Amino acid sequence: MKITINGQERDLQGLDEQTPLLWVVRDELNLKGTKFGCGMGLCGACTVHLNGEAIRSCITPVGAVKGQEITTIEGIGSEENPHPLQVAWQQFNVPQCGYCQSGQLMSAHALLQRNANPNDAEIVSAMSGNICRCGTYPRIKKAIKSVAK
Ligand code: FES
Repeated sequence: MKITINGQERDLQGLDEQTPLLWVVRDELNLKGTKFGCGMGLCGACTVHLNGEAIRSCITPVGAVKGQEITTIEGIGSEENPHPLQVAWQQFNVPQCGYCQSGQLMSAHALLQRNANPNDAEIVSAMSGNICRCGTYPRIKKAIKSVAK
């Protein structure tokens, strides 16, 4: 079974197609930026992109994404070359504990891809599936608005 992840085709031989994509990303591909929170599609910590749309990797069997494009937090920017959203996250000191933030960034990125200038209600709606126990929501909104055009 092949998937394309962060622009690279990867061959996942011998893997049970029911394995959640989250565990493939973390354990098979060693991309640890994507986090496990609830494992039930409820918290958003495991958010990645499937063909540019935000999905919950904990409830997505890897067999369902065969031959498709997956992007993880490692694929949107790097320390040397951060995505503008990652720069804004730093500028607005968004994270506290940080655990949910890669999922938050992936949802924010998907939002701006389909709507370059979201209003407050659209931001709240798009981000409503990403839970933050530290309550960083106001700063997340500010950071997204600073990048919106
Ligand atoms: Fe996937 Fe919570 S770990 S939504």
